[in-house]
Amino acid sequence: MKASAPGKIILFGEHAVVYGRPALAVPVTQVHADVEVLDSARHGIWIHAPIIDLHAELTSLPSGHPIASVILKLFSTLGISSPLGRGQGEGLEINISSTIPVASGLGSGAAVSVALIRALSSFLFHSLSDDEVNLLAYEIEKLHHGRPSGIDNTVITYNMPVYFIKGQPIETFKTGKPFTIVIGDTGIPALTKESVGDVRRLWLGNTNHFENIFNEIAQIVLIARRSIESGKPELLGELMDHNHSLLQELTVSSPELDQLVIAARQAGALGAKLSGGGRGGNMIALTDQAKAESVAGALISAGAKRTIITEIS
Ligand code: PMV
Repeated sequence: MKASAPGKIILFGEHAVVYGRPALAVPVTQVHADVEVLDSARHGIWIHAPIIDLHAELTSLPSGHPIASVILKLFSTLGISSPLGRGQGEGLEINISSTIPVASGLGSGAAVSVALIRALSSFLFHSLSDDEVNLLAYEIEKLHHGRPSGIDNTVITYNMPVYFIKGQPIETFKTGKPFTIVIGDTGIPALTKESVGDVRRLWLGNTNHFENIFNEIAQIVLIARRSIESGKPELLGELMDHNHSLLQELTVSSPELDQLVIAARQAGALGAKLSGGGRGGNMIALTDQAKAESVAGALISAGAKRTIITEIS
């Protein structure tokens, strides 16, 4: 049984979304996590995830291990104590691969969770609905990310652009006209949990000031959604620049991210900002399709470790 889940980028609204403001996120299908579950002649549940150099039997892993926790959570949700003996063999082999860079704001953890939940639940004849997959993936995000808004698991599970408000029913939205985004990876892994924790400390120390920043970000998100839906994506450039400066005020940018943002603008992007938790990971730039390659080249020259050009439609 196989399942796959895409990466994602947050277009607008990261961090403020943790405080109840809206955010916009879209799937990025050029990168994905893939999971295959097979019967095995070997006893036990064997997990192979070469990306993190993992080849282990489930019971040898601590229960809080990111991959073990997905499997254990799924078993307890399904009320399964031992999945063995389902097929011909003695056990299971679970092969996990992913082209999504880890800890970079592209949702690698949530994508692995979603693909693993889908492949394993189907293999065990307990196919889950998208809502059930999303809920489980969110439980896993909570184990590893402190106070996640749930935006990653949502956009990855439904594989559609989403207008996301924490705790509210999922709203997907349509693009009036396709637009091109260049993603630039600083190559610096950064833990979202840390930047979210730092923003929380700042917010606790000066709540009014940071609430105002979150309100400004919320305004940007609303205007951005209208621009996308009404077929005026070119308006997003200025909004990205503004959102980036507010993220700088939240202290979640970094010299490397700022350098890539500046390089993208100088190469003719209509606007650029960091995307996701910040400090490292990825930035995004809005460009005319014709300029995408040259913006991507400028990002590499400015230090990006890789770039992805993606069409949002
Ligand atoms: O770093 P990412 O792409 O997983 O995004 C985190 C987004 C935040 O708003 C910073 C945190 C959250 O839980 O929404």
